[in-house]
Amino acid sequence: MSLSGKVALVTGGSRGIGFAAAKILSENGANVAITGKDQERLEKASSEISNSFAIVADVRKTDDVKNAIKKTIGKFGRLDILVNNAGIFPRIKKLHEIEEEEWNEVLDVNLTGQFRVTKEAIPHLQKTSGSIINISSDAGLKAYQGFNADAYSATKAALIVLTKCWALEYSKDKIRVNCICPGVVDTDMTKPFVKTQKDRDFMDAERPLGRMGKPEEIAKAVLYFASDDASWTTGAILAVDGGESTK
Ligand SMILES: NC(=O)c1ccc[n+]([C@@H]2O[C@H](COP(=O)([O-])OP(=O)(O)OC[C@H]3O[C@@H](n4cnc5c(N)ncnc54)[C@H](OP(=O)(O)O)[C@@H]3O)[C@@H](O)[C@H]2O)c1
Repeated sequence: MSLSGKVALVTGGSRGIGFAAAKILSENGANVAITGKDQERLEKASSEISNSFAIVADVRKTDDVKNAIKKTIGKFGRLDILVNNAGIFPRIKKLHEIEEEEWNEVLDVNLTGQFRVTKEAIPHLQKTSGSIINISSDAGLKAYQGFNADAYSATKAALIVLTKCWALEYSKDKIRVNCICPGVVDTDMTKPFVKTQKDRDFMDAERPLGRMGKPEEIAKAVLYFASDDASWTTGAILAVDGGESTK
């Protein structure tokens, strides 16, 4: 139980990658707070994760974020691990077709949301010399033909450089900050693009390792960065993507 006595907060922990991350952290001994917008989904997820606690918190709302940190500390007394995972994917459109409102919505959740949560978490992570794991994307590493989700790509690229900025800013506090770039993973986010067997065959064939990823495969990288096995690793950007970004 490498995370015995540690406390983790996973944003967007109600499903997909966040759920798998919260589960593996709990299975390795951590107490885990999970956040999301949908209370019912969040409570169901929490019932499937031992030593977990569900907090309804929208990362677009500063008061919700402050409350989530306050409740985590109130319940478990400390914070050691923050997984900045909550995110949304926009409708596929070329840049000149995107409304400013849609653009801002993606930035608000995927980028300013991570800023809001991290800002509130830092004073607690300074006390524990904790660890931050940012969930970016392959889309932040490079451009993909036909991807056409520029606001998403912009937020994910920003999170990569912020990982390095935060790693340096908080190295004096011994806070480690690392980043995972998943490729296409089988979750609700990607469901709209994998409706038929033909879609799935295409998605699988695009990856050098011949298939889409599973949330649990991203969660294992989260566990690595959260644990003392990564005690000398900060500012790292790890692609977990079946080889997609190396093409
Ligand atoms: N799936 C992929 O292929 C893939 C690839 C690369 C990167 N990623 C990244 O991995 C992360 C998780 O993706 P996923 O595929 O697991 O997505 P998902 O299945 O759609 O789950 C998204 C999670 O984020 C939460 N969330 C969304 N908006 C929120 C908000 N405003 N405030 C708080 N929570 C919010 C959702 O909560 P509710 O259920 O309450 O809405 C849900 O728990 C995202 O950052 C995504 O960009 C995913």
